[in-house]
Amino acid sequence: RHSTDSEPEPEKEPSSSEEEQEEQKQELEKSSGSDLNPADKPEEGLKKTVADQQPAGPTAPVCQAASTKPPCKPAVFVPVDRSPEIEEARLKLPILAEEQVIMEAISENPIVIICGETGSGKTTQVPQFLYEAGYASPDGAIGITEPRRVAAVSMSQRVAKEMNLSHRVVSYQIRYEGNVSDETQIKFMTDGVLLKEIQKDFLLSKYKVIIIDEAHERSMYTDILIGLLSRIVPLRAKKGRPLKLIVMSATLRVEDFTENKRLFSVTPPIIQVDARQFPVTIHFNKKTPLDDYSGECFRKVCKIHRMLPPGGILVFLTGQAEVHSLCRRLRKAFPFQKNNTAGDDDKEESMEEIRKFKKSRKRKKVTTLPKIDLDSYSVVPVDEGDEDRDAETDDDIAGSDLDLDLGDGDSEADEKSDSSLPLYVLPLYSLLAPEKQAKVFSAPPPGTRLCVVATNVAETSLTIPGIKYVVDCGKVKKRFYDKITGVSSFRVTWISQASANQRAGRAGRTEPGHCYRLYSSAVFMDFEKFSAPEITKRPVEDLILQMKALNIEKVINFPFPTPPPAEALAAAEELLIALGALKEPPMTGRLKQQLAAKLSCPISPLGRIMATFPVAPRYGKMLALSRQHDCLPYTITIVSAMTVRELFEEFDRPAVSEEETAKLKEKKARLLQMQKLWAGQGTMQKLGDLMVMLGAVGACEYAGCTRKFCEENGLRYKAMLEIRRLRGQLTTAVNSVCTDAGLYVDPKMKPPTEAQVTYLRQIVLAGLGDHVARRVQAEELLDDKWKNAYKTALLDDPVFIHPSSVLFKQLPEFVVYQEIVETTKMYMKGVSAVEPEWIPALLPPYCHFGKPLENPPPSYCPETGRIRCHRPSVFYRVSWQLPAVEVD
Ligand code: CDP
Ligand code: MG
Repeated sequence: RHSTDSEPEPEKEPSSSEEEQEEQKQELEKSSGSDLNPADKPEEGLKKTVADQQPAGPTAPVCQAASTKPPCKPAVFVPVDRSPEIEEARLKLPILAEEQVIMEAISENPIVIICGETGSGKTTQVPQFLYEAGYASPDGAIGITEPRRVAAVSMSQRVAKEMNLSHRVVSYQIRYEGNVSDETQIKFMTDGVLLKEIQKDFLLSKYKVIIIDEAHERSMYTDILIGLLSRIVPLRAKKGRPLKLIVMSATLRVEDFTENKRLFSVTPPIIQVDARQFPVTIHFNKKTPLDDYSGECFRKVCKIHRMLPPGGILVFLTGQAEVHSLCRRLRKAFPFQKNNTAGDDDKEESMEEIRKFKKSRKRKKVTTLPKIDLDSYSVVPVDEGDEDRDAETDDDIAGSDLDLDLGDGDSEADEKSDSSLPLYVLPLYSLLAPEKQAKVFSAPPPGTRLCVVATNVAETSLTIPGIKYVVDCGKVKKRFYDKITGVSSFRVTWISQASANQRAGRAGRTEPGHCYRLYSSAVFMDFEKFSAPEITKRPVEDLILQMKALNIEKVINFPFPTPPPAEALAAAEELLIALGALKEPPMTGRLKQQLAAKLSCPISPLGRIMATFPVAPRYGKMLALSRQHDCLPYTITIVSAMTVRELFEEFDRPAVSEEETAKLKEKKARLLQMQKLWAGQGTMQKLGDLMVMLGAVGACEYAGCTRKFCEENGLRYKAMLEIRRLRGQLTTAVNSVCTDAGLYVDPKMKPPTEAQVTYLRQIVLAGLGDHVARRVQAEELLDDKWKNAYKTALLDDPVFIHPSSVLFKQLPEFVVYQEIVETTKMYMKGVSAVEPEWIPALLPPYCHFGKPLENPPPSYCPETGRIRCHRPSVFYRVSWQLPAVEVD
């Protein structure tokens, strides 16, 4: 499945009883205000819950909050038995100098913010300070959340080691895995895990302290957790069992937390840990950025390794596949690690091997290394804070020794390469097995140079010791969302200036370092200053569903550090009501009240099930309905195929020669023929494009999912591999939610029966409900542009079935579509035919039956038997006559 590190974990235990839920709900309602319009009384909830605390201005003194509540002072000092080496290394960390300040602030305030450069010791040391001060016990642990799994695992191991405690005491919990025991006192986890725990135990009664780490990353779940904890902390204080909240950030940009009066009524104290950062010289590429940044990274690492003094190299790439391919290339170029390439096994190289390597390299040194491009750098002195300076003009100021080295000729470089150290190449990315990740923290074999090829995870989450050179490709892989479908995909984009500076900072931890940016300073100037918080950039229906599952009904009143746009919230609620995930409010009272009621609907039982699946709500609903008639494997396949774009090759491209034209024509004919076959027989054909997807995946898997099969039949091989991967992940996730479903991951599946296909059409309709369209009937034709057109609930304009659809010629009366793309016209893609009589049964919110209401609210279409449109802006636009169907 497409996933980030921190999606909420599927629920394994039954959720809390209804009584408890009701109590939590009341608590949260109290704390999130009772007014529906946030503009009227934005801070009501806050005043209620922290009524006993004095309101404070932005410059609130540090101890104000504590004056009304007895501080939760530790009674004891818990000794920790550290080894002398660990103790010595600890003492060098900047955060040790602040221990007393930090502990005093924590003892006197319920909420404290700690800012400190990456590597200053926040993650590893603050939990230890708290432990020593007696904050932890098996019945009240210290919980630390990380946005990334890799950090949760490795930090728990590191802290256990430093404290000389077992993993039963210092533990971690990530999505499906963990070593938490009944002795656990320090628990590292992903933010999604804590969010799920809040769903079960709103007051987090198992914890005495919660630390939100890496808050600067502004991941969506981190933001939500901070909002939730801003309410949980005062509630816990009221119950006489105070909970401490510590927010840790690698940057000083925390005003969204501190200046936000809806979040914390009393401005929490900010403790700044002084960075011990050595200067880092930044080297920009002079050339316009290259597409082949991976190849450029390779060349740069080779150059550094051959020509520059000892010191670790850290390369930033965007994804796992790239990381592995660069590791392979580097190991091939420096073959002493031959034994170490397969699966990156942990085989420490002996000096013997290194000697062998040196010998072998002497023989083929010239051929294994690429030619160096000597003109690609400009050099500017490092000045991280000053982003406005024009780096390009500073060429002349340049001239560190290192650049002179790089600027010298090939022959000297070759000589140097003889004496250069062997390269010890390690990959690092989120999904790498924990024991393999751990290797980057231990010293490289003696006489070698460490080279870590990492994804963004090395930017702030993990500090790798001994890095002197950073190679920054300037890119990051991010999740993007389709505006129309909400379907997400991963794309590679430029990073922000803040990220670039964080990456550069990795080079100056232990001594002055160098950062090689594979882009020009002009391009750097065009980077965004900071990346926007995740929550503002994506559709929020999945988030809203998760929050409703937490019984937060008035989402609009929720104290978001940065709220999502109001339209995004309203659209999400509307969609969730339409899908049946939320209980529809009664349509009584004035319009304003109705709209308000719409924005605070409680979750339905179906919504609770949907919330447990790790996919978008539309797809979650499909999965929730698919237990019937053994449809789950097919729905999983359809959902996977819809998530992967462009299953089929494009043959309509212009050809260069007649020969090619003929070839393309032939291939296209073959694909059309296959699509017809995959579309099935009889009523199966009505599943339309989704049946073709299902048929294509089924056929491809029966043929062993080979490149040959894909090429011969017009399928994109990469897409098919991706679908296989997603199917596996989704099957595992569904199994962990429905423990009795007993699905097993088998790429090969039997073709569905005709009856199953009919059920699948209903399931798809129920999930894609807001994407239903009806063909304009002859008597309704307004003008020619509506010929063969469809009306949808979401758009004014006529839309058409895409010519590539298998239903293009059939023009069924009612269809659902996956997405609309606009080219010369608005085209629906991923189309399935549905029967009109299913619509009232499966999508009651889209239909209205019975007598016209006396005083119909505008969102009702007054005539009997007509589907009403859900969006206020398109009332009455759709008038679909439905056949008479009895609905309870
Ligand atoms: O959280 P923050 O970035 O402030 O620092 P940290 O992760 O607590 O790391 C503090 C120091 O511990 C760094 O200098 C790391 O190099 C070191 N460390 C380590 O040697 N091995 C680990 N597994 C984790 C951290
Ligand atoms: Mg950290």
